[in-house]
Amino acid sequence: MIKKILFVCLGNICRSPAAEGIFKKKIKDRGLENLFVVDSAGTGSWHVGNLADSRMRETASSRGIELTSRSRQIHENDLDEFDHILVMDKDNLHAVKSLVQDPLHPVNSKIKLILSYSKDSQLDEVPDPYYGGQHGFDKVLDLLDNAIDGLIDSLKD
Ligand code: 4NP
Repeated sequence: MIKKILFVCLGNICRSPAAEGIFKKKIKDRGLENLFVVDSAGTGSWHVGNLADSRMRETASSRGIELTSRSRQIHENDLDEFDHILVMDKDNLHAVKSLVQDPLHPVNSKIKLILSYSKDSQLDEVPDPYYGGQHGFDKVLDLLDNAIDGLIDSLKD
């Protein structure tokens, strides 16, 4: 059974494209590519159509992860289309849950904070690196690398 996974942040140019790229690389390395459909989206629309932020792309590339996705905004239909929606922070969580128009119609997706899958993070949110320095981009990749190992382990079972 193919599982459909969507990563979500605010702009879909830093954190969620990084999560998408890391997830894709890890499933490729483990020979699990055929088991998943993977995408990312933003709760905001400012960057729709853009590649990931150049700082995020360069930081990921230095770790062997190429980010090629273009920003898109999440749509209500995504909550039925995807099996798992992994959000970066609590604002994203609220924004995604707010897309549910009819509370009596249960959506397909399980919606969770990505760091709930982390084995050793003290944080529960992936900090937004957009207005900060290089350290923030490295931190995003470190946090996501760990959490996505946990996510893949849980989805394999
Ligand atoms: P992201 O980072 O949500 O990780 O893609 C951001 C990108 C852009 C903005 C905010 C956060 N922005 O305000 O334009």
